[in-house]
Amino acid sequence: MKRKRPAKIIDGKKISAAILNDLRDEIATLNRKGIVPGLAVALVGDDPASQVYVRAKRRTCADLGIASFSYDLPRNCAEKRLLKLIDKLNADPKVHGILVQMPLPKQISEKRALEAIRPEKDVDGFHPVNVGRLLNGEECFAACTPAGCHALLLRSGYDPAGKHVVIVGRSNIVGKPLAALLMQKAAGANATVTVCHSRTRNIGRYTREADILVAAMGVPEFIKPRMVREGAVVLDVGVNRIPDASRKSGTRLIGDVAFAGVSKKARAITPVPGGVGPMTIAMLMTNTVKAARLASEGR
Ligand code: GUN
Repeated sequence: MKRKRPAKIIDGKKISAAILNDLRDEIATLNRKGIVPGLAVALVGDDPASQVYVRAKRRTCADLGIASFSYDLPRNCAEKRLLKLIDKLNADPKVHGILVQMPLPKQISEKRALEAIRPEKDVDGFHPVNVGRLLNGEECFAACTPAGCHALLLRSGYDPAGKHVVIVGRSNIVGKPLAALLMQKAAGANATVTVCHSRTRNIGRYTREADILVAAMGVPEFIKPRMVREGAVVLDVGVNRIPDASRKSGTRLIGDVAFAGVSKKARAITPVPGGVGPMTIAMLMTNTVKAARLASEGR
């Protein structure tokens, strides 16, 4: 049976704007102590998608009054050069957060680059020390997209406590850290978490059991209406660019969820674009301000 009412659209643009607005107060407090939060963003090469993301991050910094330090390195940049830059930024007290945009060209080890960043400045939450702390339920920087999913749920009034959250996708950037976040014994978490992936047999059997379903596998419109329980809350982390001749750009973005059908069954759903996407930047800014605050407290 189809739900009578269409799903509530969870507006990531509005919620991220509210988070950024709250941050302005915290930044003003730091400013009064003579501290300007600073984020260094390093981009290696000229991947068009990465350029778009990096531009958005730098623009948001400017809008909030976060100092942004830009490093654009050529595609053929040697690993040593990037590691030297990271060392310099690690030692710079004006830089509270360091972000190296992924993916990196193949001559550079992503693992070595991420592990070179001091965990106290790892506002992306990708350093193994932060990943381990997250799993242990300790104070840390959580990766921005999972943190954004969590914030979307809480700010829309869907506390995951006691709920069955089914995550489809087991990436180090989204699926695994989101599972770690939501299963913690902590206020705003306490979910029962199932993680499905490409080797899961009969995925629908699990997704249909979800109170909260998170699609993060990177397959366009993989989640069909028959895979979703009536009244579920659905978060779509997918960002897939597909050809669309009717658009001036010739392409458009779609998610990992077949939105038109699923939104007739779900209680609430995030759109693509305008759902999880804007939250990632909001959480990056949140982590940067937190890094500045912790540094100012000598931690
Ligand atoms: N590439 C795609 N998403 C991200 C992200 O959140 N952080 C970094 N550093 N690179 C990315």
